[in-house]
Amino acid sequence: MKRVFLTLCLIGAVTINVLAQYKPTADNLAQRQKFQDMKFGLFIHWGIYSILGDGEWVMHNKNIPYDSYKRLAAFFNPQEFNAKEWVAFAKQAGMKYITITSRHHDGFSMFGTKMSPYNIVDATPYHKDPLMELAKECEKEGIELHFYYSLLDWGRPDYAFGSPIVNGKPAKGDWDSYINFMKAQLTELITKYPGVKGIWFDGDWERTKVDWRYNEIYGLIHKLNPAILIGNNHHVAVKDGEDFQMFEKDLPGNNTTGFAPDQSIGTLPLETCETINNSWGFNITDRSFKSSKQIIHYLVGDAGRNANFLLNIGPMPNGKIQPEFTDTLAIVGAWIKKNGESIYGTRGSYIPPQPWGVLTVKAKTVYAHITSPQGEGYIFIPKLKEKVSKAVLLSNGSAVKYKQQPEGVFIYTTGLGMDGVDTIVKLTVE
Ligand code: GLC
Repeated sequence: MKRVFLTLCLIGAVTINVLAQYKPTADNLAQRQKFQDMKFGLFIHWGIYSILGDGEWVMHNKNIPYDSYKRLAAFFNPQEFNAKEWVAFAKQAGMKYITITSRHHDGFSMFGTKMSPYNIVDATPYHKDPLMELAKECEKEGIELHFYYSLLDWGRPDYAFGSPIVNGKPAKGDWDSYINFMKAQLTELITKYPGVKGIWFDGDWERTKVDWRYNEIYGLIHKLNPAILIGNNHHVAVKDGEDFQMFEKDLPGNNTTGFAPDQSIGTLPLETCETINNSWGFNITDRSFKSSKQIIHYLVGDAGRNANFLLNIGPMPNGKIQPEFTDTLAIVGAWIKKNGESIYGTRGSYIPPQPWGVLTVKAKTVYAHITSPQGEGYIFIPKLKEKVSKAVLLSNGSAVKYKQQPEGVFIYTTGLGMDGVDTIVKLTVE
């Protein structure tokens, strides 16, 4: 009898283990494909910190006591915010999705949550919910919406920022209460806001020894909507239950930031997030704006590495986007309008990045993006096994000379009229 019981327990344990392994649904897998097709997204960091014009870490960096910082809520009144303008701006730039901060490390909720009075509807003179307006507008305009959600909270007593971690929990605070709070907010975000397609977690790295209970949190999200894509900016290998892998301020495979020394590239869809200047949240002194060429090269570099590019802007506290950003992104948008077929719906990493640039591939078409011509009068595409039947310049359809050998293809660029940003040669393969 005892033995039978033990065996049953064992079978039970094994079953639970098997069940615990995340299996994405067909809808989720389809959403991953769609996500990869979109390629270009707009990241938005916006919160009460925007008032101080010093980035989203200002409370922490300037040692502002939480109770003093909280006063900012009373000054936050973005009368100029217009969801239509933001969505139109993203669309015009060629972006297909928006990822916006719903709650950042300062703990302030930029949506009408019932779980804490510290939110834009209840604690500011604005009294409206910009994320609801944005969600509705995105849905109307066919732009997908992801919510950034901070795991880290500098102010909540149950999170107890700064507390030592003992046995997977902060010694002070109330970890159960904090986890439940997050689950309740995530439930609101997923069930009340129309069309949400992704949750973007951040802040895990602040507590590496705590039990974040991702099985519960991710499980809840996928139970509420199995198609929602979960990503986590934890800077380590993908964890069970996640649907895409992200890289902060780096193309996959590069580690110029040093954030992710051990982050290998997995098999899930990939996304790089990067700032348009050097700040996430609005920063009034940061003038290190990336040029349209740098942004296009980033986008192309990501596409060639099979990743999406999520480009961040920090809108101003009045709800407007500063002209330096709109000007640059108008140029990027015009570029994509002409060259979008070589970006949207393509896949990358067909061959590793080359000194001259990258390849993107869609069915029988291969696009060679020559972003850094080496001045040799040709480029060499190694390991292209399919027979090339045609090569033209994407910009005007004119024929491009090439020579195919077993080890690869030479594309001759002399006299092509190179484009200063990206010369795209379109190859048809059999
Ligand atoms: C980092 C920053 C955070 C920002 C995020 C975006 O984690 O700490 O403020 O939101 O990067 O990738």
